[in-house]
Amino acid sequence: MSKVAVVYWSGTGNTEAMAEFVAEGVSEAGGEADVIQVSDFSASNLDDYDAFAFGCPAMGSEELESDEFEPVWDEIEPELPGRKVALFGSYDWADGEWMDLWRERAEAAGITVGDTVIAKDYPDEVAAGACRSLGAALV
Ligand SMILES: Cc1cc2nc3c(=O)[nH]c(=O)nc-3n(C[C@H](O)[C@H](O)[C@H](O)COP(=O)(O)O)c2cc1C
Repeated sequence: MSKVAVVYWSGTGNTEAMAEFVAEGVSEAGGEADVIQVSDFSASNLDDYDAFAFGCPAMGSEELESDEFEPVWDEIEPELPGRKVALFGSYDWADGEWMDLWRERAEAAGITVGDTVIAKDYPDEVAAGACRSLGAALV
């Protein structure tokens, strides 16, 4: 069975809700998902999983959250090429540029990024469905 880590940071719960929808998609496709706060995840956990969905909202100025999420991303980024990776997160007032920048950064590091899903604030039904599809595609 495909084991998927859904690793996220969320300040006000929107990206956390997306993480739960991603996990639902994994389960519906027959996989097993662990939903993990980024502070509980490190490079030593990578080999426990077949695929990964990373979630982080737009913070700073179109940036990743810098206190908890980005340090873990910095640590694992060199070890992600060759693994199945998807990205998701919530934003509010801009147009999702942080996700474009995140994907570009990941691809420049040699990571093949599959799906990306962004949701304005709390994920609506369309975004929730996209999160489920993202999860299913990782199985
Ligand atoms: C400090 C801070 C910085 C933010 N920076 C951005 C930004 O650059 N672009 C944007 O579209 N939204 C920005 N937002 C809005 C959040 O991305 C948005 O509220 C999101 O839904 C939060 O997700 P969460 O509930 O998972 O924490 C920012 C919010 C905070 C608190």
